[in-house]
Amino acid sequence: MKLIYRGAEADLLLGAWAGEKAIHKVRKPLPYRLEALDRAIRSHRTLHEANMIHSARSAGVRTPYLYFVNPTSALIVMEYIEGERMKTVLELAPDDIVISLCRRFGEDVAAMHTAGIMHGDITTSNVIVRDSELVFIDFGLSLHSAKLEDHAVDLRLIKETLNGAHSRIASVAFGALLDGYKVKVGEARLDATKRKLSEIEGRGRYAKVE
Ligand SMILES: Nc1ncnc2c1ncn2[C@@H]1O[C@H](COP(=O)(O)OP(=O)(O)O)[C@@H](O)[C@H]1O
Ligand SMILES: [Mg+2]
Repeated sequence: MKLIYRGAEADLLLGAWAGEKAIHKVRKPLPYRLEALDRAIRSHRTLHEANMIHSARSAGVRTPYLYFVNPTSALIVMEYIEGERMKTVLELAPDDIVISLCRRFGEDVAAMHTAGIMHGDITTSNVIVRDSELVFIDFGLSLHSAKLEDHAVDLRLIKETLNGAHSRIASVAFGALLDGYKVKVGEARLDATKRKLSEIEGRGRYAKVE
């Protein structure tokens, strides 16, 4: 197996499962935590992530297939998604492709939200572009939530990653995303979400003087 990513909480290894290329996501013991507590946290998060991957798939978005989940060893084995991170694709693609991908992105995020799922860490590094479809990964911080505020927080993170990494096309890209979002949630919900988003952004701006 080959280590492909070392995160703060988990290592990602590329290996195989029943003859298929597979990603092994293993949550590592963290030495600064009490051992029994650490074990419980890793086991809980592993199961939680697997459940949320499953829920997102039921909501109609593409996620890796789960091959094997073992909470005791804090291991998820899942389908390897052959593709490129959305972050990289957006940096290199011509504007019309950026727009169509972001529209797609908006539709998929709306599908999760409509099903009462907040992704929780929805950056363009946690979306893989496979052919022309988007595959969502990294559900460790996901929650079951139908709250407007939680959905707006997802959109805010997307907006921030677009501004940070793709500033040239950020506003066009985010506009396309909202167009796609509206297709699934309708105009009234989009407007309410946008108002909540502005409110959250306002809060951030004045946080220092409070
Ligand atoms: N199923 C997968 N198929 C292909 N690459 C993956 C898969 N899961 C994770 N990766 C790669 O590993 C990176 C880290 O995985 P992720 O689940 O986001 O871990 P973390 O929680 O540490 O951010 C991703 O950005 C992606 O590049
Ligand atoms: Mg990630």
